[in-house]
Amino acid sequence: MNICIVTPAPARSRKGNRVTALRWAAILRELGHRVVIEQEYKGQRCDVLVALHARRSFPSVERFRRQHPGLPLILALTGTDLYNDIRSSDVARQSLELASRLIVLQPLGIAELPAHLRDRARVIYQSAKRPPGANSPAKNLFEVCVLAHLRPEKDPFRAAMAARLLAPSSRIRVAHLGAALTEGMGERARAETASNPRYRWLGNLPRWRALQILTRCRLLVLTSKLEGGANVISEAIAASVPILSSRIPGSIGILGPDYPGYFPVGDTRALASLLARAETDVTFYNTLRERCERLNPLVNPVRERRSWGKLLRELSAEKRRKARAPGPRQRFTLIGTEADIQLADFAREVEAGLRASPKRLPCRYFYDREGSLLFEAICALPEYYLPRAEREILEARAAEIVSHLPRDATLVELGSGSAAKTRVLIEAFLEREGALRYVPVDISRAMLEESSMRLVKEYPALEITAIAGDYHDGLRQLKVEADRPKLILWLGSNVGNLERREAASFIRYVRDTMSPWDRLLVGIDLRKDGAVLQKAYDDSRGITARFNRNILAHINRDLGGHFDLEAFHHRAIYNEQIGRIEMYLVSGRRQLIPIDRLRLEVPFVAGETIHTENSYKYSFAEIEALASAAGLCIESQWLDTGRRFSLNLLAPADP
Ligand code: AVJ
Repeated sequence: MNICIVTPAPARSRKGNRVTALRWAAILRELGHRVVIEQEYKGQRCDVLVALHARRSFPSVERFRRQHPGLPLILALTGTDLYNDIRSSDVARQSLELASRLIVLQPLGIAELPAHLRDRARVIYQSAKRPPGANSPAKNLFEVCVLAHLRPEKDPFRAAMAARLLAPSSRIRVAHLGAALTEGMGERARAETASNPRYRWLGNLPRWRALQILTRCRLLVLTSKLEGGANVISEAIAASVPILSSRIPGSIGILGPDYPGYFPVGDTRALASLLARAETDVTFYNTLRERCERLNPLVNPVRERRSWGKLLRELSAEKRRKARAPGPRQRFTLIGTEADIQLADFAREVEAGLRASPKRLPCRYFYDREGSLLFEAICALPEYYLPRAEREILEARAAEIVSHLPRDATLVELGSGSAAKTRVLIEAFLEREGALRYVPVDISRAMLEESSMRLVKEYPALEITAIAGDYHDGLRQLKVEADRPKLILWLGSNVGNLERREAASFIRYVRDTMSPWDRLLVGIDLRKDGAVLQKAYDDSRGITARFNRNILAHINRDLGGHFDLEAFHHRAIYNEQIGRIEMYLVSGRRQLIPIDRLRLEVPFVAGETIHTENSYKYSFAEIEALASAAGLCIESQWLDTGRRFSLNLLAPADP
């Protein structure tokens, strides 16, 4: 296979991530693969991407995922990303979602991951080769070393400070190797070297030299505040040099919870007394040595290579399985936003809406699979007259509508849902010309897949390109289709979900993709008696209430929310003046709702509302105004016999 490793650490830098990338490249080559290391993925051909660092490699992760939705993407979490970024950075979290596998360097790393991603995680312990030559500690000194670049997370001067606290009789010396990442840090290291006779900063030495110094030391001291799993721990174990380490998960995951050589992060005194004890208490020192000796198999290069082999085999088996069982033969193309990107948007908008005051949630998140099914159930309700009224018009006018369009027109539908009513038009087009290209756009990938599958089965002459996404994706697709004659459908009074001004500007954008012969067919519910509307949105069987509450269930399912659906009531009111139905969820009591994946707790007082939907109704004058604000004119307008609903065929006003 061609494997591309990306690491943000520049070539020739001796940063941990670069060291890891180089070692993995060597292992993967031994396993027979072709490997390149880059700082960023720029679209080169490869079968697997291995990315180090969730936040910093996000651009690579995203690009690879977009270009190769089906290929394996392995993300390694190596330090600050695991212990900081995946909680604080959106892009780091998105990287996690986009990866097929997550590598952590020790088992405690798995616990840091969001619960729903833990089964993607694999532990690969970093290996190290035993350096040549025997250990040859200096006789009259007790030399210890710190192998850490000079940057704050490493707490790089802690060992120097601890050494200052040692008794005069101590023969301890601290050798510190590592690059100064800022001038200030170098300054401080030089000053410490000058004033602290037990401490010497040796600068950034080549690796072979660093390992040579390590083998002549009696201890490795790791003072980091945070590590994904320090490579130097593996190197010390391989070199049979025992370790003193800050008590951090990255080390506990390798050395074990009961390892005797821990001190609290930043605790100079505790480190000083551990150092003194290791120097003077031979039994203690030997215990440290034996404990590290026992860990030797963990850092054996053979083991790391096996872990990689196993991981890659697992991924190719998965790919073969997918290839063998492609599901029912698809004769339609489905493109659009990856489910995991949709999830990240969902998370962002839910968080913003529930932090806002008054609380609100975007109504497009009603439509997960469950919600789409509930909406289908609403459409079957006697009180919810909209779909039947619209269907009545379509059935009466389908042929007439088709006659307004040139031959070979493409049918593009915004918010296609189950596409039940669309069939009437599809049949009319097929009747006229025997074949048709249909481009449904819908927020619910599941619904889109199902309805497209059913349609191609029923109408073999239909060619479908389905787009999973929101109205923005719909507009983008309309631009793609700009050169083809088309009928754009926006049915079901979906326009009612937008504010009147938003509706006009959205339709204006649609209009900008239209040629003079293109048409937009919009279904718009009419203003009418409030009691009729009220019933349509608060049905006697409580289906609309379930539909409304499902947005909370959606949050529970996909974001780890803990909403008790019973504790929220459905409210629909018709605001006569504005001409819109407003839907709310009303908290029945004072309560605090955790949402795990957002690390958020949402407080509610009794009676507090979440505004979940607006559904605008239009007068004839308002329809006129909408069309003309968008640069369109009403070529035809049809009503159902009950005069409750309108279907409007709009054409560019100034062709
Ligand atoms: C799908 C937006 C047209 O507003 O009538 C139905 C959604 N909400 N019952 C509408 C809905 C409650 C519906 N639209």
